[in-house]
Amino acid sequence: MKLIAELDNLADAFAAELAGVASAAEAESLRNVRLGRKGDLAALMNRLPELPAEERPAFGKAANAVKERLNRLLEDRLAAFRAEAEDASLSRFDPTLPGRMPERGSLHPITLVMEEICGILNNLGFETVYGPEVETDFHNFGALNFPDDHPARDMQDTLFIAEGIVMRTHTSPMQVRAMLERKKPPVAVIAPGKVYRRDYDLTHSPMFHQIEGLLVDENISLAHLRGVLTHFLREFFGADVKLRFRPSFFPFTEPSVEVDMSCLICRGSGRREDGKGGEDGCRVCKGTGWLEILGAGMVDPAVFAAVGFDPACAGFAFGLGVERVAMLKYGIDDLRMFFENDLRFLGQFVK
Ligand code: DAH
Repeated sequence: MKLIAELDNLADAFAAELAGVASAAEAESLRNVRLGRKGDLAALMNRLPELPAEERPAFGKAANAVKERLNRLLEDRLAAFRAEAEDASLSRFDPTLPGRMPERGSLHPITLVMEEICGILNNLGFETVYGPEVETDFHNFGALNFPDDHPARDMQDTLFIAEGIVMRTHTSPMQVRAMLERKKPPVAVIAPGKVYRRDYDLTHSPMFHQIEGLLVDENISLAHLRGVLTHFLREFFGADVKLRFRPSFFPFTEPSVEVDMSCLICRGSGRREDGKGGEDGCRVCKGTGWLEILGAGMVDPAVFAAVGFDPACAGFAFGLGVERVAMLKYGIDDLRMFFENDLRFLGQFVK
């Protein structure tokens, strides 16, 4: 048979075979067998010397044209396979499915409560200040009128870092820092932050949070303290909250008081919903109708003397435990919830 006829046959056979391939891989192997360097087309071209010299250029041209055409056919077929595969993967994609939302973080309930308390007091003109959690004995105790051998130092279960250096046991050292920095009245600051004590059981954590308040100015009395605390507690807990001052003792205030507020659950009645009173009454206030909420008092002249203020100055101070306030606000009865970082708990406080 003439070479040129064989070339035509090869082209026809290739087109028919290509129509029958079922995958891109099959098409590629067809390319190898028919059009590859050792394939059928190459074999035909190797037989060029069989032709008379004058026919050779025409045959070479024709063979190249066939090679080009068949390669194009094959490329088209491969492109069709690629498009098919793409369609198939798109058909597995459901654009109506809801998207996957990233989880949103939220502020810790203790942070939220601190921010709310500070916000109320900032509105009254108190400036928020921050200070070190590792404190000197002077700021934490000495300047606050705790004598060296005073049992009150044991009372606070101090964690000692080194001689004269402690983890602050309360935020009250910020009173000392604020007055030393301002040098003279007026001073109106609040100091939120972490405090540390060697204490660990169901109701005590070795780290917890307090907010300290201090106001020093002219003619400040217990009445101002009562006014500020009443406003603050009513803003925070509700307009019908009542306050009660009980005499107490702190080395850095004189007189000192503990402040109770009317129970949020029984509204001060001390009774349970079924009317039971006394010790069997309201579980939150143990039937008393009152909840202990903070410590406070008039700044002791000894504290003023320690920071170089005129001992005839007048001012009040107060300190409250943030965890306790948060537990009352949200009805949480286990302190450990705050520190376990269980997302089911923390997620309930997303604002
Ligand atoms: N620092 C006290 C404590 O940790 C709380 C306190 C009581 C702070 C009376 C005060 C205050 O500023 O006047 O128990």
